[in-house]
Amino acid sequence: MSFRKSNAEQLLVNPFTLINKDWMLVAAGNKQSHNAMTASWGALGEIWNYYTSTIYVRPERYTLEFLDREEYYSLCFFDETHRKTLGFYGSHSGRDCDKDKETGLTPVFDQKAPYYEEAKLVLICRKLYTQSFEEKAFINADLYTKNYSKDGLHRMFIGEICEILVKE
Ligand SMILES: Cc1cc2nc3c(=O)[nH]c(=O)nc-3n(C[C@H](O)[C@H](O)[C@H](O)COP(=O)(O)O)c2cc1C
Repeated sequence: MSFRKSNAEQLLVNPFTLINKDWMLVAAGNKQSHNAMTASWGALGEIWNYYTSTIYVRPERYTLEFLDREEYYSLCFFDETHRKTLGFYGSHSGRDCDKDKETGLTPVFDQKAPYYEEAKLVLICRKLYTQSFEEKAFINADLYTKNYSKDGLHRMFIGEICEILVKE
């Protein structure tokens, strides 16, 4: 199955359900080494006259090493039949196993970031900005405590959406 190129203004998606309910894979790296993880927090929008994606990645994630190393990342969205697979990418670390091999997903390397053949929608994004959340910036202390008493503060990445691929 092949993908056709689309553009942001033609995209007919609800970003809230697409990210938070359907979930996505965040992937970065190259043919030699890459990694992907499930994410359900993020945004699609616009800033600095670019159409952008925003993702939030905790410092514990192996994927963060690839996001730091590479200039591009991809966001891959799947249909419901891949829910279990996304659960696997969201509960196992690439430090401990080869998630592609374990699940059978097929990475593709013909763009500036790896993406998956089985996806229904792929966004290829170029990093523009990254910054970690800071405790002192939280308006509501409870929100900080609720989310960060156990794990590290998320790092935000804003990326220009350079390529949109839709499964034909
Ligand atoms: C539904 C779901 C959503 C998730 N969303 C995020 C997220 O937005 N940011 C994040 O840092 N981790 C998120 N995670 C956790 C990572 O996917 C998980 O820790 C993963 O095992 C990290 O893999 P890695 O170590 O190979 O990078 C989510 C997990 C699931 C199951």
